[in-house]
Amino acid sequence: MQDLIIILNALYELTEVEEINFAKGLVLSYEDGNDLGLLKNGAELAFSENNATSDFLVSDRFQKRGDLENTYLQIFLDFLCDNESQVTLSIPEFRTLMNQVAPTEDQKTWSFKDLSHSLAKISSASDRFYLLRESILGINKDKSKALSDLVKFANFSKNSEALEELRKALMHLPNIKDFLNYFLKFLNLKTDRPVFHDLRKALSDIDISILVPALSHGQIQSKKWLLEEWSKIQDEPIDMSYVLGGWLGILPLMHFEKSYNLSKKFRNFDIDPKAIQFSERICKHLVQDDWKYKGVVMDLYEMNYELTEYETAKADGSMEKFVERADVIINTSCEHLDDFELWLSKIPFGTRLILQSNNFFAEPTHVNCVGSLQAFKEQAHLSDLQFSGTLDLNHYQRFMLIGIR
Ligand SMILES: C[S@@+](CC[C@H](N)C(=O)[O-])C[C@H]1O[C@@H](n2cnc3c(N)ncnc32)[C@H](O)[C@@H]1O
Repeated sequence: MQDLIIILNALYELTEVEEINFAKGLVLSYEDGNDLGLLKNGAELAFSENNATSDFLVSDRFQKRGDLENTYLQIFLDFLCDNESQVTLSIPEFRTLMNQVAPTEDQKTWSFKDLSHSLAKISSASDRFYLLRESILGINKDKSKALSDLVKFANFSKNSEALEELRKALMHLPNIKDFLNYFLKFLNLKTDRPVFHDLRKALSDIDISILVPALSHGQIQSKKWLLEEWSKIQDEPIDMSYVLGGWLGILPLMHFEKSYNLSKKFRNFDIDPKAIQFSERICKHLVQDDWKYKGVVMDLYEMNYELTEYETAKADGSMEKFVERADVIINTSCEHLDDFELWLSKIPFGTRLILQSNNFFAEPTHVNCVGSLQAFKEQAHLSDLQFSGTLDLNHYQRFMLIGIR
């Protein structure tokens, strides 16, 4: 499940779609066996239809107990906390209902146990509350079903196709692949963002272990940092950026998903055909949009950076030839280059470079780590340095330089 949390975190960072955070809450609750968290998340979902602006409540509405429905949930919540305690109901409408099924002397105080039992009778009058009650009481028996029922409850009056997919996703926990299949469909229906459709298709026949390392916290934060710092330096979008050793194409994807508008097009030159193939699948909507993204299998030591020529197969099977040149060259894989100086010597003078390296010496494929930002500056010896900085990550530091070769 840790992999699923990494993927959900990264999806949120890439798109800032709030539903992803919500689902993460449900998944974490599921994993932790945290009934209260689950219930709270369920409650937020359940009452989402009352919110005019969003389908999902992120507010503290649950605390307000302003209406009858919230009171039901509050009682369940309290019941799970301590079922020996007494509760005084403040809402007259609910007191009346309770007094019909379980009259008490003062007509306003009940034990949680009484409330819970009575609620069953009240609930049966309404399919909606019955479903809610069943799902909450089912939490300790079958978590997937309970989560799924909560979504069904939320869906009751909305009959939303998207929520139905979320429900199916939750039914499939803890199977990550099946969960993602339905969850990405839900996100695509909900937000109409093609990235979710492409990712779902790509994951249908590829193991998620290919995706997870590229979406780790460190990788995602490093790309976010790069785009932030780059945008402080450049006002107008350039025509073409090359990303070298760009792996699964997450940087260009994040650029377009977060509407940075720094570069009209990106090319990812990577030596690994599997990575390029996968990147083209998850960025398919960008490939098809006038080649905003293109992955190319190429060795960065073999490239001609004055004019880069390559061919690619089009959807109809015919070949298209590209002859291109970059306005900016990005290399966030400097730690992987066994002959950094040789590579640098191939870059035309005057080219803007964005470079990242790190001091994560423990990774065997990191053959060119640097110990400090100063060491990286000396290695890259840029003629005009526009940015230099260090990002502290969990187990290592990432260094970045932006400047002119
Ligand atoms: C682990 S990944 C990327 C890590 C990096 N921090 C990033 O996300 O930018 C390193 C990538 O560099 C690619 N690579 C290594 N040597 C290369 C070369 N000579 N030419 C092109 N790509 C290369 C690998 O195939 C891999 O996809």
